[in-house]
Amino acid sequence: MKIAYFDTHPFEKQSFMKANQSFQHELIFFETRLNSETANLAQGCPCICAFVNDKINVQTLEVLAAQGARLIALRSAGFNHVDLEAAELLKLKVVRVPEYSPYAVAEHAMALILSLNRKTHRAYNRVREGNFSLDGLVGFDLHQKTVGLIGTGKIGQVMAKILQGFGCQVIAFDRFENADLLKAGVKYVELDSVFRQSDIISLHIPLNPETHHIVDARALILTKPGVMIINTGRGALIDTHALIQHLKSGHIGYAGLDVYEEEEGVFFENLSDKILLDDQLARLLTFPNVLLTAHQAFLTQEALKCIAETTLQNISDFEHDLPLKNEVRTQIHYKKI
Ligand code: NAI
Repeated sequence: MKIAYFDTHPFEKQSFMKANQSFQHELIFFETRLNSETANLAQGCPCICAFVNDKINVQTLEVLAAQGARLIALRSAGFNHVDLEAAELLKLKVVRVPEYSPYAVAEHAMALILSLNRKTHRAYNRVREGNFSLDGLVGFDLHQKTVGLIGTGKIGQVMAKILQGFGCQVIAFDRFENADLLKAGVKYVELDSVFRQSDIISLHIPLNPETHHIVDARALILTKPGVMIINTGRGALIDTHALIQHLKSGHIGYAGLDVYEEEEGVFFENLSDKILLDDQLARLLTFPNVLLTAHQAFLTQEALKCIAETTLQNISDFEHDLPLKNEVRTQIHYKKI
């Protein structure tokens, strides 16, 4: 099948070309992001392969459907950037990669925790300049600290086990309690109790209307002074303005962010010789206790291989009229928290 890739990056192109040796699809790579203005590049392609910052709204979908597209193959787990209702009305199927490496994301969340706590990112720069002073580098033992997980699906579950390996007390909030985690000693509590009791809070839920700004000014007021907030979920789970206010007041001790509400057009790009126009992002970058990475939690060799293989398999299943086990449909609704 002829596949138009949007927002293609060098780090993924190779894994797709390698995996395609067993599928023999026709791959056409575009570096530009998908939106209603770029969609016509995919003329003649029944399948569109999109990434997390492509704008798959009703306007884009209308252009794609009008030029004969039939399948949107997301090479991501998250699907918050797709107007599923519009896709369904336009008879476009949507598939995704629900699981590629929960280890990749959980391990990156852990890397953010460890770096922020032990300040390795600051120490690295310091010693390279011949500054061997330890002032300002005091961390804390993770052992016996309470870590609150919001979301204990595939990634949250791995995260809980990693944290238990460090001797942390893990509490969690999810609309479903995971039996394995309960058996392993994870305590499920109300959402506000996660905010009140945790020394570290890590977000592992999808972005949807119920979880949008789940960490807002109200929630941040409930948190312990000095709390560490880690977000490898989606940017808009956190109200960035409220986070900045609480970082400025000193109430928030640390923030580790792999995702950001307005990351589209910034993350994944080299803007090092451009003026950063996003004032909120610029402000976040000024805090010594904020560690930002540009949506790289998924980025391991194992995850890239799995993303490529699953995406191409999803497309082959569609092409051969087989059941689409990774289809995303509008009936995935979430209960109000
Ligand atoms: P998952 O679907 O396995 O788990 C999500 C959990 O959230 C489920 O247990 C579900 O019950 C819970 N949940 C959903 N809505 C809820 C609500 N309204 N209230 C309470 N609980 C709710 O998803 P997985 O694989 O663990 O991924 C989580 C998120 O991580 C993804 O949706 C994606 O946005 C993000 N992600 C980020 C990556 C990165 O590179 N930074 C890479 C992969 C995923």
